[in-house]
Amino acid sequence: MRTPIIAGNWKMNKTASEAGELVAALIQPLAAVKGVTKVVCPPFLAVPQVAQLLQGTDVGVGAQDMYWEPSGAYTGEVAPEMIREFCDYVIIGHSERRQYFGETDATVNRKIVAALGVGLTPIVCVGETLELRESGRTEDWVTTQVKGALEGIAAEKVAEMIVAYEPIWAIGTGLAATAEDAEHVIGNVVRATVKSLYGNDVAEALRIQYGGSVKPANAEEIMSKPDIDGGLIGGASLKAADFLSIVEQSAKAKGIA
Ligand code: PGA
Repeated sequence: MRTPIIAGNWKMNKTASEAGELVAALIQPLAAVKGVTKVVCPPFLAVPQVAQLLQGTDVGVGAQDMYWEPSGAYTGEVAPEMIREFCDYVIIGHSERRQYFGETDATVNRKIVAALGVGLTPIVCVGETLELRESGRTEDWVTTQVKGALEGIAAEKVAEMIVAYEPIWAIGTGLAATAEDAEHVIGNVVRATVKSLYGNDVAEALRIQYGGSVKPANAEEIMSKPDIDGGLIGGASLKAADFLSIVEQSAKAKGIA
């Protein structure tokens, strides 16, 4: 059985001191939930402090982006080893990075290769726009994104990665995909594409999250779907009680608690 993974993507929210307060509120209650992988992804400047506060706990820390070069004259960028010093995870190819910062399947692929190269677990985001969905192109689009992201990556690495299916129209809108819709794309498109590329064992090992307006009110229903292995949580991860509730409901939905 795949261990569900709930990751909080704080996006561009929380100063380092605010991040400390949020983590302080999360540490004890999160420790009580076993059998779920728990990760928080603060903005870069809060990462060292959050990592220090979470040392010795079973809550992982992730960055929200990364550059692929190991070092050099790349003003403003953050290198894989710099992230690895504090983090186990890194979100790659979030739709906001693709939409506002020009990331493509090719840059996403380079970042994944670099992340794996330093022992980071990439959380790779894919998902379609409303326009693509309404014109019936979701499956083709997501398939292309998955293939582009995984180009040249070895099977044993793929099995350890995380993919997050995040329909763009569901992100930050309050309008989540239905559990059935999410399950369909995750199982019949993302996992099926990985199966066609790498075979059944890799496809069955890969953990695939759903993301987009997951909140306490819909978490249990979404996480009860067998192909959905957790969530990438934006807005609701900024409130300790909401994030905790989503983690607890995921454990319950998977029959862990
Ligand atoms: P949301 O964001 O939960 O605020 O919709 C999810 C994400 O972008 O990862």
